Amino acid sequence: DGAYDFVVVANRLPVDADVAEDGSPTWKRAPGGLVTALAPIMRANDGAWVGWPGKPDVTLEPFDADGMHLVPVDLSEQDVELYYEGFSNGTLWPLLHDAVVDPVFHRAWWNAYVRVNRRFAKEAAKVAAKEATVWIQDYQLLLVPTMLRALRPDLRIGFFLHIPFPPPEIFAQLPWRKQILDGLLGADLIGTQRTSDAGNIQRSVRRLTEWTTRGQVVTIGSRWTRPERHVRIAAFPISIDTTGITEVAQRPEVIERAKEIRRDLGDPDTVLLGVDRLDYTKGIRHRLKAFGELLHDGRLVVPEVTLVQVASPSRENVDSYKQLRDEVEVTVGRINGDHGSLGRAAIHYMHHSYPLEEMVALYLAADVMLVTALRDGMNLVAKEYVAARVDLDGVLVLSEFAGAADELAQALIINPHDIDGMKRAITEAIDMRPKERRRRMRSLRRRVVDNDVQQWAKNFLGTLNAGPSRTSHV
Ligand code: G6P
Repeated sequence: DGAYDFVVVANRLPVDADVAEDGSPTWKRAPGGLVTALAPIMRANDGAWVGWPGKPDVTLEPFDADGMHLVPVDLSEQDVELYYEGFSNGTLWPLLHDAVVDPVFHRAWWNAYVRVNRRFAKEAAKVAAKEATVWIQDYQLLLVPTMLRALRPDLRIGFFLHIPFPPPEIFAQLPWRKQILDGLLGADLIGTQRTSDAGNIQRSVRRLTEWTTRGQVVTIGSRWTRPERHVRIAAFPISIDTTGITEVAQRPEVIERAKEIRRDLGDPDTVLLGVDRLDYTKGIRHRLKAFGELLHDGRLVVPEVTLVQVASPSRENVDSYKQLRDEVEVTVGRINGDHGSLGRAAIHYMHHSYPLEEMVALYLAADVMLVTALRDGMNLVAKEYVAARVDLDGVLVLSEFAGAADELAQALIINPHDIDGMKRAITEAIDMRPKERRRRMRSLRRRVVDNDVQQWAKNFLGTLNAGPSRTSHV
C-alpha cells in the first residue's frame, strides 16, 4: 500500500509549469475552484493528486508542489488523440450533454479510454494508503471506480460527475453503455450536479444493468449470491471560492480596472458580457443571434450598448470545436460589419483566457451577464459573476439548462432555444430598475456565500466517509 490517506484522481493535475530559461519547470497552482477547495484538505490529510500534466509525451516523476504530492500520468500523443480528444471529448462530452452535437462512436477510441483509465486506476492504487479515501473526478475517468476497487477493495471510493447525465433514451445510444455504468458503480458514493442528473443515472442503471435501485441507493448481490454492495447516488451542486472572488472584487486596483474597461469600450450605457470556454454547449451562437436581432430591430443601438464576448480556447484539435470557432467568428464579423463603425464595435470578441483579476474586473464592468448554455453541468461563470458583485448591482440572465439555475432562481431564467424569449430577457435586464437589481443580486449573493466550494467538498467527503464499515481518514 502507498502512503497517502486522501487521493484525488482527475484527468488534469492542478498545476501549470512555468518553464525557466534553462528549461527547468517550477509549478504553480492552476486556477480553479476545485483545487482551491481540495488543497487545504490535502495539506491536512497527507493528500496526493493523480493526473495528466496537460501536454503529450511529458514523462515526470512524482513530485511535491504547493503542499501536495502530485503523481503525473504520462499520456502519449496517441493517448491524447484517442482517449482525450476522441472518447472523452468526441464521444462522452456531446453524449452526456444531451447529444447537442452528434457523438462519434469509434472502437479504437473506446479501447484507448479503457487502457488509459486502467493506468489512472493503477497509479491511484499505488499511492493510496490502507483504507484511504479516493475521490475520482469527472467523465474522463468513468471506469476508474471499478478498476480501482478490483485492485484495492479496502479503499473508500467517491466519484463526482462535473457534467450532466442525460436521460436513458439518449445514454442508451452508447455501444459501451453497460461497461460505463458498471465501471462507475465501483464507487461507494456518486455525486452529480443536479438531482435530475442523479435521477437519470438511476434510470439508466435500472434499465441497462443488473443493479436494482431504491431511493438514492442502488444495490447488487443478495443474501443468496454474493454479498450485497450498495452505492449511493445524490446531487452535490459544486460552487466557487466565494471568499477569494469577493476579496479580489474589493481590491482598489480591480475596481479601477473595471472603470478603465468601460472607458476603453467608449463609455457605453450598457455593457453586456459573455464568458465561456469556446464550446458548443455554451449557446454562444444563440446568444449572438438574439443580440444581432436586437440590433437589427433597432431595439438596441451601438455605441449605447456593446457586447463583450470572452471565448477561451478549448479542445482545439476536436472537429466540432474547430467548426464552432469558425461559425462564431463569421457571425461576430457579420454583426460588427452590419452594426459597428470606426472605433465602435458592436461585439468585442476575445479568443483568450485571462487571469482571475481581469475576469473579476470584467464582471464588475458588465451591466448584464449572459449565460445561455444549451446544457451545462453547473456553469461556474454564473456563480462567479454573482460573487464578484459585492456592489449588489448587475443582472444575470441564466439558462434553465445550466445546473446553476436550480439555485440561482433570482436570475432572469431563459430557454436559449427561444430566441424571442432571450431577446425579451436581455431588454428586461437592460431596463431593470436599480432597486430591483439590488433585490435580486442580494438574494443571489446569499446563495453563493452560503454554499461555496469548500462547503461542497465538505458535504461530499462527509457523506462518503459517513458510509458503513471502514474507518474514515478525511
Ligand atoms: C469541464 C470539465 C472538466 C474539464 C474542463 C476543461 O469543466 O468538466 O473536466 O477539465 O471542462 O476542459 P479540458 O478538456 O481543457 O480539461
